[in-house]
Amino acid sequence: MKVITSHSYEELSRKAADLIGAQILIKPDCVLGLATGSSPIGTYQCLIEDYKKGRLDFSKVTSINLDEYEGLAPDNDQSYRYFMQHNLFNHVNIRPGSTHVPNGLAGDIQQECARYEEVIAREGGMDLQLLGIGVNGHIGFNEPDSYFPAETHRVELTPSTIQANRRFFEKEEDVPRFALTMGIRAIMQAKRVVVIAYGSAKAPILKEILQGPITPNVPASILQLHPDVTFFTDDESMALLK
Ligand code: GLP
Repeated sequence: MKVITSHSYEELSRKAADLIGAQILIKPDCVLGLATGSSPIGTYQCLIEDYKKGRLDFSKVTSINLDEYEGLAPDNDQSYRYFMQHNLFNHVNIRPGSTHVPNGLAGDIQQECARYEEVIAREGGMDLQLLGIGVNGHIGFNEPDSYFPAETHRVELTPSTIQANRRFFEKEEDVPRFALTMGIRAIMQAKRVVVIAYGSAKAPILKEILQGPITPNVPASILQLHPDVTFFTDDESMALLK
C-alpha cells in the first residue's frame, strides 16, 4: 500500500490524474472504474486538461462507474450519470457507448444489478479503480455492515451518508434513501486501486482504514489486502496518522 500526501487539493488531484493518465498511456483500451463525489472532481479536471492539450486519448477507454442513486433519472442533476457527463465524459473523447453507470430507474433493480455484474465480467474487470471514501468508510455505496457484500446490489443508505450527501440537495427529503452499488469483489479485483481522501472530515476514518482491523464495519479497510493500492491524501486527512 502506498500513501502519497500532498499539501493541497490541486497537488493531490494532479498526482492522481498523472497515475490515471499513465494507465491510459500503457493500455489505451483500459477499463477504468470511476467514482463520483467531490473527491475526484479535481482529478477529472486535470484529465480533461491533459486531453485538451492532446496528451491523453480516451477513444479506446471503457469506464464502469461504481454506483447510482435509485429513482434518479440520468438527466437529474443529482444523478451520478449526470455528474459523470458534466465532470468528465462531455469534455473528452470517450465513446458514449463505452461509459457504464447503473440505471437508477430500472423497473427491476435485481435484474439491473445482475446486468451490471455481466457488464463488469464482459469487460474483464477494471484495470484501475478510482475511489473516494465516505466519512463512515464506505466505498461506492458499500455501507458499514456485518459482512462485505460481494456483488452489485441495492443498498439502503445510512443516516450518516444521507447527512453527508445532503449538501448536494435542496432538502434532506430529496436525498434518495436507496442506491445501486458495485460490490466489494469487483472493486478488489481491479488490478490497481487509486483512493482520494482529502480534508479534515476524512481524518478519523482514514486512520481506521489504514491502521485499523480489516472489518466490514469500515468497508474501505479491506483495501489493506489489495496488492496495488495508492492513497492520495493531504495534510488534513493525514492529521491523525502522524
Ligand atoms: C458518495 C459516493 C462515494 C464517494 C463518497 C464520498 O457517497 N457514493 O463513491 O466516495 O460519496 O464523497 P466525497 O468525495 O464528496 O466526500
